[in-house]
Amino acid sequence: SQRTLVLIKPDGVRRGLVGEIVGRIERKADWRITALELRTLDRAVLEQHYAEHVGKPFYEPLVEFMASGPVVALIAEGERVIEGVRALAGPTDPIAAAPGSIRGDFGTVVRENLIHASDSEESAEREVKIFFPGLA
Ligand code: GTP
Ligand code: MG
Repeated sequence: SQRTLVLIKPDGVRRGLVGEIVGRIERKADWRITALELRTLDRAVLEQHYAEHVGKPFYEPLVEFMASGPVVALIAEGERVIEGVRALAGPTDPIAAAPGSIRGDFGTVVRENLIHASDSEESAEREVKIFFPGLA
């Protein structure tokens, strides 16, 4: 079984969608939430988390947004959970995301797309270290 690092982004927390998003993950058969914390991210953590995007045109506004309020960071564990949470989230652009997905149901703006989920086993382990160093 796998684990993945999920962030409910500041728009999701501000809009009261934490229960909705956590619920969709929690209800998948045999998946478990094994860590969960509300916290406001600083630039240093965001620079580590989004290292692959440093220098891109959307990087500064992305960091500004991600630091604009608390996020919910969580670890979900279970069968194919990495691919599975990405599927629940839908594609990066919420307008391109199908209804039924989290981004497709609730998002309109690329930056404010509600959820982050690790995109590979390597990313998951790297991101767990950043957000839950005690569980790495
Ligand atoms: P994350 O799970 O947040 O990493 O999303 P992702 O894997 O679907 O997208 P990616 O890692 O490529 O980009 C990270 C985040 O940067 C996205 O979720 C968006 O919030 C933002 N982003 C990515 N590409 C663009 C873009 O072209 N324009 C803008 N404005 N934001 C972008
Ligand atoms: Mg990504």
